[in-house]
Amino acid sequence: NTGNLAPTPPMGWNTWNTFQTNIDEPLLKGMVEAYVSSGMRDAGYQYFVLDDGWMTMERDKNGDLVADPKKFPNGMKAFADYVHSKGLKFGIYNCAGNKTCAGYPGTRGHEYQDARLYASWGVDFLKYDWCNTDSLNAREAYITMSSALKATGRPIVFSLCEWGNHQPWLWAKGVGELYRTTGDITASFDKDKNVGTWTALSVMSILDKQPVIAKYNGPNHWNDPDMLEIGNGMTFNEDRAHFSMWCMLSAPLSAGNDLRKMSAQTQSILINKEAIAIDQDKLGLSAFRISSDKGLEVWVKTLADGGLAVCFLNRSVTPQNISYSWKDHPFKNETVNLDVDFSKVNYKLHDVWEKKDIGTTKKEFKQTIASHDVVMLRLSK
Ligand code: GLA
Repeated sequence: NTGNLAPTPPMGWNTWNTFQTNIDEPLLKGMVEAYVSSGMRDAGYQYFVLDDGWMTMERDKNGDLVADPKKFPNGMKAFADYVHSKGLKFGIYNCAGNKTCAGYPGTRGHEYQDARLYASWGVDFLKYDWCNTDSLNAREAYITMSSALKATGRPIVFSLCEWGNHQPWLWAKGVGELYRTTGDITASFDKDKNVGTWTALSVMSILDKQPVIAKYNGPNHWNDPDMLEIGNGMTFNEDRAHFSMWCMLSAPLSAGNDLRKMSAQTQSILINKEAIAIDQDKLGLSAFRISSDKGLEVWVKTLADGGLAVCFLNRSVTPQNISYSWKDHPFKNETVNLDVDFSKVNYKLHDVWEKKDIGTTKKEFKQTIASHDVVMLRLSK
């Protein structure tokens, strides 16, 4: 690896959130076509990632993984070539344990063999899960697979998925480019869901876990708050709030909806170039919550051009009227070296969702924010 495979948060699409293991080549080719025709690729999304369920239940007699011939009758190399022919990069999934979370053969004991196979197929991204790991040491297991990927000589982005239990933010820099920080997301704004043996996390509950680890985020080592649920059942406002907050966090953006069937509203969220530009800002800083009052939060992110992104988030079930006097709210944060006193310096305001300029920080900012919605502003001098 060059060590510089993800200078900004990786952007892509992943099969899991909509299709789980119900994937096959015809479905996925349709998805690749929609990826291009919907403008996702042109908006900056790059990776096309197969999650769990692409393999047969057993390795072959040489111990190699096998792409399920019913799902991929032409083999994985041919599918990877197809993805590449559309100007996209190709990603795949496996697990550090004996079996994947869905019960397919895991990589434990086959790290170098599997890495060589992926490289021979043209894999550009590996998501590496943490089920059935028994006594494995997380840091060591991820270092082993990282070394195996590096030994192939092919640049492969390494996406760690051990759900944050082993605090990867403390050790994953240089091991992989992104690391999950929590358990799995579900398409719910603020209600976690009990799904038997585990709890699927709402967007807000994942968001609340991010501030304490914000300082570990940066180029080539991204805190991953999990893949996007935009277009998967929340309201338009909730989807827009979810996307805005992931952009504020400088999170990896991995869409997980059916791209062939997305509504114009869903598309308008996923390909909003101004929001994406905030996500992809070169500094790669994560936002911090500067205030929280009766369900109304203000989040701030420092941008490379000397500007700021500010997001008002209404978590309450009713609309909120805000009248925000900038000069009464100095922005101070030592971690990102931010010290702004709006009584001394003036910024221009631009609304990222309305896509228009709306005055300056000299004037009080007044607006009604719908329930479970945001106003996202870009401030520049
Ligand atoms: C775990 C991961 C998910 C997904 C599934 C696949 O739950 O956290 O993102 O990859 O496994 O089985």
